[in-house]
Amino acid sequence: MDIKVTKNPNPQPKPDENNLGFGLTYTDHMFLMDYNREEGWHNARIVPFGPLPIHPAAVVLHYATEVFEGLKAYRTADGAVQLFRPIENVRRMNNSAERMCLPTLDEDDAMQAILEFVKLEEDFVPHKDGTSLYIRPYMFASEANLGLHGIKEAVFAIIASPSGSYYAEGINPVSIMIETEDVRAVRGGTGFAKCGGNYACSTRAGERAEKLGYSQVLWLDGVHQKYVEEVGSMNVMFKINGKIITPDLIGTVLPGITRKSILEVLREEGYEIEERRISVDEIIEALENGELEEAWGCGTAAVISPVGKLAYNGKVYVINDCKIGELTQHLYDTLTGIQWGKLPDTHNWIVKL
Ligand code: PLP
Ligand code: COI
Repeated sequence: MDIKVTKNPNPQPKPDENNLGFGLTYTDHMFLMDYNREEGWHNARIVPFGPLPIHPAAVVLHYATEVFEGLKAYRTADGAVQLFRPIENVRRMNNSAERMCLPTLDEDDAMQAILEFVKLEEDFVPHKDGTSLYIRPYMFASEANLGLHGIKEAVFAIIASPSGSYYAEGINPVSIMIETEDVRAVRGGTGFAKCGGNYACSTRAGERAEKLGYSQVLWLDGVHQKYVEEVGSMNVMFKINGKIITPDLIGTVLPGITRKSILEVLREEGYEIEERRISVDEIIEALENGELEEAWGCGTAAVISPVGKLAYNGKVYVINDCKIGELTQHLYDTLTGIQWGKLPDTHNWIVKL
């Protein structure tokens, strides 16, 4: 694929690495590519970062026909830049696109777009410990049409944001509220897809939880409101009596790349793993019996985040004295070790620029 590059004539100074926050500043350029039914994907280009022209009747603005991804570029000690399992993001984006009737991307073209774009923005990959360049590929239906029909025009874009920790807590335990009112996904719906609508409908519960001092909500299944699914931006895992238990992927949970990687590491280390439905009653019982040893969320933005407090129906349960557990710390060290090139990449997960 030929990517036309137009350099930004007004490059910005790099943001202060000590105060990055998450997703607040952007790099100098963006990648764009157009789709229509006649030409397929065409006009791949990297242009100066700036507003996108959009028709007021564009399908995405009315019907939320949009999917996205999130991955990071990491700066290693020798100054090089590397990505973590980017092909997994490309494949998941295509799965999400299929669910939303958006056109899929050629895997090689999408990888080329990510790599060429990040290479151009390499200087924006921060150096400070725990920071990275968060990369956001996304796709939306751009045609003007208020009718509900198959998508005829779309845009694929990539932007990037030098970022620090997702939670203000960093690696310190977060407090999570189990959501008992709203639901995020049902079987046959879009739970497994990374589409904007899943996040829009989650915002209300998230805001309610934040007002009460919690970082995010833990979603329960949409039918019985009984089985644990995932946290707003993370998959969730529990260590109960030495066993690792995590909700299985039955279409309502995002198949996290961090989740998949952690399960591979845990399996290699000989842990017993159960991917299955886990009821909130089982969690509460394990908490009350002292059998719930550790709980953590995992995701690209959040990395691995210990859960220190879990609130359910007005009661607050403390996990592991609200301290990071031994296994959570080990998984954090292992994963971030591979991502930042401090540990050998024995799984072939790393793609160097
Ligand atoms: N679940 C949701 C809802 C998410 O938004 C994310 C973040 O991408 C995850 C789980 C974790 O997925 P991954 O590890 O691929 O980032
Ligand atoms: C990610 O981890 O990449 C996410 O998509 C989380 C996002 C909602 C901030």
